[in-house]
Amino acid sequence: MRSYQRSVELYQETARHLAGGVSSNVRYASAPVPLFFERGEGARLYDVDGNVHIDYVLGNGPAILGHAPPRVVAAVAETLSLGQTYAGQHVRELELARALTALLPSAELVRFATSGTEAVQMAMRLARAFTGRDKIVKFEGHYHGWTDSVYVSCRPSPNEAGPADAPVPVAESPGMSPGAYDGLLIASWNDLGALRQMFETSGREIAAVMMEPMMVNGGAILPQPGYLLGVQDLCTRHGALFVCDEVITGFRLGLGGAQGRFGVRPDLSIFAKAVAGGFPLAVVAGRRDVMETLQTGGVMHGGTYNGNVQSMAAAITVLEILSADGGAVYAAMETRGTRLMEGLSKLANKHRIEMVVQGVPTIFQAMFTKVGPRNYRETTLVNRDRALAFSRELQAQGVRVNQRCSFFLSTEHDDGIIDETLTAADRAMAALASTGVA
Ligand SMILES: Cc1ncc(COP(=O)(O)O)c(C=O)c1O
Repeated sequence: MRSYQRSVELYQETARHLAGGVSSNVRYASAPVPLFFERGEGARLYDVDGNVHIDYVLGNGPAILGHAPPRVVAAVAETLSLGQTYAGQHVRELELARALTALLPSAELVRFATSGTEAVQMAMRLARAFTGRDKIVKFEGHYHGWTDSVYVSCRPSPNEAGPADAPVPVAESPGMSPGAYDGLLIASWNDLGALRQMFETSGREIAAVMMEPMMVNGGAILPQPGYLLGVQDLCTRHGALFVCDEVITGFRLGLGGAQGRFGVRPDLSIFAKAVAGGFPLAVVAGRRDVMETLQTGGVMHGGTYNGNVQSMAAAITVLEILSADGGAVYAAMETRGTRLMEGLSKLANKHRIEMVVQGVPTIFQAMFTKVGPRNYRETTLVNRDRALAFSRELQAQGVRVNQRCSFFLSTEHDDGIIDETLTAADRAMAALASTGVA
């Protein structure tokens, strides 16, 4: 039995000083309390009670090269004595912007921000300013950060969310200003007919359609074949911008992100997480004429820490590693991730557990359901209690996933780690089956 005694004590003490004992509400979900870690190295995390975790949370996505990747650490360390943020330009910004515009066909220009949340705000403002329209189509179940203007209908209760084909906006937090999200139109994702209809009725008002191009928050769901291209086409025909929020999918679904994998070219994209391997960086990338409105159209975007020296140094090195040999690391991650996905499915069969493993090899989810969901409403049919129970059993076996049983892969999840994970999952499923929760 693993003990979490020191984490419990530290959490109790922390909660006396730090509101809720955490720095992000997402971290409450951990059990028995939000755990305290001493360090991370490669695919593993080490907690204060001496427990070792094979980590598939990876900081909720950023650690694509594992924890503390030596080359990135060295590149950042080299810059520490140069200062952190100048309120002025430095040459690493040029270097990174050049690398990004070379790697991403849709990135004619980029702008740096610090978190995904604020980069989304910039993209929304740009879209409204460029088109002179107000409405932004946002899909149920998709998460674009926690601000009032967009923290809407991320996980609405079906009782509040209106009909599946005509969802209504549902604020996700107390304290949100109702006026702040008036500009959103809520739609069901993966349904081109519904979006077409929306354009027919409100097309002249729609500034942008914004989405996670693979729905990761809430469900590791792939776009239906042709869906993304269909959305892109609808946007073009109606003079709206197609905005891909690649905060999670960027540099994870491949060097070109979801847009590269599925063959679309958004007008604007947002990248964060994996791009700097764990250092705070977000990027808005897109069409030159749209991005230029930051200068020529007076569209405001600021941020004290934007372009800070360490995040630039980290991202330059991360991109060097990810793009070496034409992105060879992705082929290796895809092979290992596929083995893990297939291995988990086989184990579920062995233990007679109803489970679907859905997603792509670098980000997937084990879902307790007969048929994998295709949109948010269908995710509400997935058994979340079983997912929670499985995540707890995995933790007891030394494997860390989130409470929805999502798996993020890094380059450091080698074959040995995959074998260890499958052994742990075998035991976790046996425990799950024996408790009857499965
Ligand atoms: C798709 C997506 N967009 C935006 C965000 C917000 O990014 P951040 O947490 O860096 O503010 C997230 C965070 O998980 C995300 O997954």
